[in-house]
Amino acid sequence: MNAPGPSRPVLVAPSLLAADFSKLGTEIQRAVDAGADWLHLDVMDGHFVDNISFGPAVVAMADNASDIFLDVHLMISRPDHYLPRFIEAGADMVTVHVEAGHDVAETLQRIRAAGVRAGLALNPETPLEAVEPHLHAIDLLLCMTVVPGFGGQAFMPEVLEKIEHASRLRETRGLDFHIEVDGGIDAHSAATCRAAGADVMVAGSSTFRAPDMAAAIRVIRGA
Ligand code: DX5
Ligand code: ZN
Repeated sequence: MNAPGPSRPVLVAPSLLAADFSKLGTEIQRAVDAGADWLHLDVMDGHFVDNISFGPAVVAMADNASDIFLDVHLMISRPDHYLPRFIEAGADMVTVHVEAGHDVAETLQRIRAAGVRAGLALNPETPLEAVEPHLHAIDLLLCMTVVPGFGGQAFMPEVLEKIEHASRLRETRGLDFHIEVDGGIDAHSAATCRAAGADVMVAGSSTFRAPDMAAAIRVIRGA
């Protein structure tokens, strides 16, 4: 069977982690003006990942600064405990990791019960089988294409097979979740991910640090 190419519009979500932290409000507006579809917010707790970024206050700031769809990526242990604060802050999508030590089914159910979209993420070394029982209960599957914790890392092509498999499962089960990729996404890796079936491209360095952000977003989208 051919690789399941994209049959959905491709969305681009710049990651605020790569922005100039001295002027986050202006940087968010710059992404909106450059044609971003979503804004990706990387929450790191220094425990689930070996880095610390920001918390609910920055999500609330982004919610006040713009109407753009807020795609909140929780790289934290016990996301079930902190979940209400990110929902309160204005997240439109909350993505939790399957490896983060919580009752995954219950956490996903609570996200949706709050009227927020639910995402489930898996690390590069985690097999797709770990998330398969939850595919009917998610709006987005995030296949990490780097080991989470830092921006600016190299894309891992070994994840492409997993993306293709997820895309086939989505098709054969008649499901409708987005497939998002995150880490090392640029013009080249985005093209390989789109061909594998991914439809949401998170990109930090290759958008906020590009000389022409609008052009970078168009190329990543494949437009
Ligand atoms: C890494 C984060 C990514 C990261 C992407 O753990 O989840 O969202 O910020 O940055 P780039 O696109 O520079 O790899
Ligand atoms: Zn992320």
